[in-house]
Amino acid sequence: TDAAPGFPQPTEHTQKAYSPTDNFTSRWTRADAKQLKAMSDPDAGSRENSMPTEYTMPTVSQDFPDMSNEKVWVWDTWPLIDENANQYSVNGQEIIFSLVADRKLGFDERHQYARIGYFYRPAGIPADERPEDGGWTYGGQVFDEGVTGKIFEDQSFTHQTQWSGSARVSKNGEIKLFFTDVAFYRDKDGQDVKPYDSRIALSVGHVHSNKKGVKLTGFNKVKELLQADGKNYQNAAQNSYYNFRDPFTFVDPAHPGETYMVFEGNSAMDRDEAKCTAEDLGYREGETNGETVEQVNNSGATYQIGNVGLARAKNKALTEWEFLPPILSANCVTDQTERPQIYMQDGKYYLFTISHRSTFATGIDGPEGVYGFVGNGIRSDYQPLNRGSGLALGSPTNLNFAAGTPFAPDYNQHPGQFQAYSHYVMPGGLVQSFIDTIGTKDNFVRGGTLGPTVKLNIKGDSATVDYNYGDNGLGGWADIPANRELKNSKAV
Ligand code: FRU
Ligand code: FRU
Repeated sequence: TDAAPGFPQPTEHTQKAYSPTDNFTSRWTRADAKQLKAMSDPDAGSRENSMPTEYTMPTVSQDFPDMSNEKVWVWDTWPLIDENANQYSVNGQEIIFSLVADRKLGFDERHQYARIGYFYRPAGIPADERPEDGGWTYGGQVFDEGVTGKIFEDQSFTHQTQWSGSARVSKNGEIKLFFTDVAFYRDKDGQDVKPYDSRIALSVGHVHSNKKGVKLTGFNKVKELLQADGKNYQNAAQNSYYNFRDPFTFVDPAHPGETYMVFEGNSAMDRDEAKCTAEDLGYREGETNGETVEQVNNSGATYQIGNVGLARAKNKALTEWEFLPPILSANCVTDQTERPQIYMQDGKYYLFTISHRSTFATGIDGPEGVYGFVGNGIRSDYQPLNRGSGLALGSPTNLNFAAGTPFAPDYNQHPGQFQAYSHYVMPGGLVQSFIDTIGTKDNFVRGGTLGPTVKLNIKGDSATVDYNYGDNGLGGWADIPANRELKNSKAV
């Protein structure tokens, strides 16, 4: 393939599988990520989308319904799944977990106050026959106050919060809730007096579900599973703003009997001494639109060193885990590869992970969205989807103009720039995400609820928006349908 004029060729990736335990980490290189800007229309004017429509979520309107009836802010959301990521209803009720926060807080203050809540709705109703808001009932918080703080040796935290994860159900109605347990230690001005502490944790409880509703019981203990080790995964001593969170567990037919977990990490280098290599840049031999390692390392890009981690369970109860080397690094590309998940289809392994526009490194630009990589195993030389760029589904964005922020979008930005984040890819290529901000600088509203579900057609090394799905590509609001049923008298 020819590179766009002025842009480099993407790196060649073989998709070759390695053993999960091998010391091989695939790279989302700068040459790959430069394909994002390469596919952006340099002539797109103020408030227009500059990215290809086939990789762009259709624009969402400002008059979205609120799924919690103003009870809570809602953002990152995950379904109740099995080890193959099938989504379950239990005794006729669909169940989802969401990060929630009190609506008295500003939406941007949510991260220090996040709690895991849950919602339920009757299963088996087509999206267009449901209430407009998706028809969910808010069930409340999973944990009683105080439960998730107990794992921290230093109890002097000022904020103790629950961040994203995933939920596995077994036939008898037991739920293993994997999540991120976080403590902040701050002074009265909100400054850290010591770095925040972010750990991957597990709590095991039960679901009770019938026609009348859903209750969760037994989530009164937390088992710490993993802390960043500073060897494969950057820790607080190396960078007080390290990222280590968002566990997602699954099994691999190629390795029966094992359970794996992917999670968000950073490459384990000291923040101020981090260096990227020629392999991280990934330019081909003779590339004339490349950069030198020295240029990149002097540019500030070394502050963005995200990775996707892999761990393996050491016991059947999934209470003991060991780290394996990361499966993907994004050194000098982006600092956040959040909420990673493995999606299997047609014998291929798709790694999806979300990234913000604001976390890309100097010299790299791309929209808020979900990024995808395909390979022949959970550890492989992953090929970034869609023209080698990695972009699977972005929010409508104009890369010719600055971003601004969700609370102050840039004047020239498309109103949809912050319309969706924290995408989760579901069976059949359905994608759910939450609404952050919709509108332009002079007229925008904040979200705090799930947006419309969209559908990706995933095939080989491409993923494109299905405009035949829903209303010109936009499906039901907060539509997270189960594709499996669990009926069990123990779960009543
Ligand atoms: C080794 C292995 C390799 C294969 C890969 C698939 O454990 O089975 O032979 O390439 O894992 O995940
Ligand atoms: C994604 C995210 C997750 C994290 C949570 C915290 O939106 O940043 O990585 O667990 O939000 O609110």
